[in-house]
Amino acid sequence: MKFKVFADYKTLCAAVADEVVQQLHAKPGSVLVFPTGNTPLGLFSELVARETAGEVEFRRAHFVILDEYADLAPGDRRSLTDWLDREFLSRIGMSRSQVYDFEHSADHLERKIVSLGGLDLVILGLGPNGHLGFNEPGSPFGSRARSVSLAPATIASNAAYWGSEEQVPRVGHTLGLGTLCEARRLILMVSGQSKRNILNQVRTGEIAPDLPATVLRTISQAEIFADEQAAGRQISGTAN
Ligand code: PGA
Repeated sequence: MKFKVFADYKTLCAAVADEVVQQLHAKPGSVLVFPTGNTPLGLFSELVARETAGEVEFRRAHFVILDEYADLAPGDRRSLTDWLDREFLSRIGMSRSQVYDFEHSADHLERKIVSLGGLDLVILGLGPNGHLGFNEPGSPFGSRARSVSLAPATIASNAAYWGSEEQVPRVGHTLGLGTLCEARRLILMVSGQSKRNILNQVRTGEIAPDLPATVLRTISQAEIFADEQAAGRQISGTAN
C-alpha cells in the first residue's frame, strides 16, 4: 500500500482529482465509487471545475453508492445518495440512471457491480473509528454489501451532519470490505489533524477487522493520500 502526503487539503484534493481524470481518460465508461462526508467536498468542487473547463467528462461513467442510511422515506434530507447527488453528481450533469444504489437490495447492488465489469476506482474517506463506508470495527475483511448497525463513534461523528445524535439513523447499508478490495484501484483520502491518530493506527497498528481500514494494507492496489495535517510531516512511501 502506497502512502502519499500533500502539503494541504487543496493540494490533496487536486491530486485525487488528477487520478479520477486520468482514470476517465483511460476508460470513459469507468465504474466509480465516491464517499460522502466532509473529506471529499473539496474533491467534488475540483472535479466540477475541471468538468466545466472541459478537461474531463463523466457522460459514460457509472457511479456506485458506497453507503446509505437504512429505512429513509423518499426525500429524507439525510439521504447520503441525495447528498452525493447535490454536492457532485448533479453539478456534473449526471442523471440518476448512471447511479446504482441500495434501492433494491445489497445483493442486487453486488450483482450490478459484476454486470458492470467490477469497480474501477474507489475513493474512500476514513471514519474516526477506522471504518470504510459503514464497515464498522469487527467487519470481516471478506464482507459483501449488506445492512449494518452503526457504531457509537459513527453516530457521534455523523451527528455533526444532521444536528444531533438523535437525528442519525442507527442502521445503514454499505458495500463490504470484500466488495471494495476487489476494485482495480482504491484511494483513501485523509485530511485534518483530527484524523492524525486514527491514520497512524491504520498505518502501523495490527491488521485486523477491529480496525477495518487496515484491510487496505493487505492489497497492493490501495493507496492512502493524506494531507500534512493528518499525516504529520512524514514523507510519502510504501507501507504494508
Ligand atoms: P468525514 O467522514 O469525511 O466527514 O470525516 C468520514 C467517515 O466517517 O467515513
